Amino acid sequence: MAETPKDNLYYRAHVFCCTNQRPDGHARGSCAAKGSVKLRDYMKVRAKELGLDGVRINSAGCLDRCEQGPAIVIYPEGVWYSATTREDIDEILQKHLVDGGRARNLLMPTSSGRDCSDVSDKDCENCGGC
Ligand code: FES
Repeated sequence: MAETPKDNLYYRAHVFCCTNQRPDGHARGSCAAKGSVKLRDYMKVRAKELGLDGVRINSAGCLDRCEQGPAIVIYPEGVWYSATTREDIDEILQKHLVDGGRARNLLMPTSSGRDCSDVSDKDCENCGGC
């Protein structure tokens, strides 16, 4: 059987949480100014408590989606989320990393502008946009 790129993944899921801090008053704002450092810390603790094997949660510099942040992206799928509360983090952990679905109401708009937030997992067309 041929080896696929997924076979070569070191982590089952690799989560990047933007913790970039810009000066107060910057036009784009920053994820750290919206609480992303504490949310990242909480996510790491909860992921460990949940015993999520093969999941790595890292800090990231600016992911260039500042206005929609705090920005989180999960690979290998490249799914983008905006999480502003601990409850949002719990939802991402449960729905994406435990259940293997999507925390749809926290998805950022796709690069094409498509809003998939009200599409159920069952109806998802796996367009790759989320
Ligand atoms: S500051 Fe977080 S995406 Fe730019």
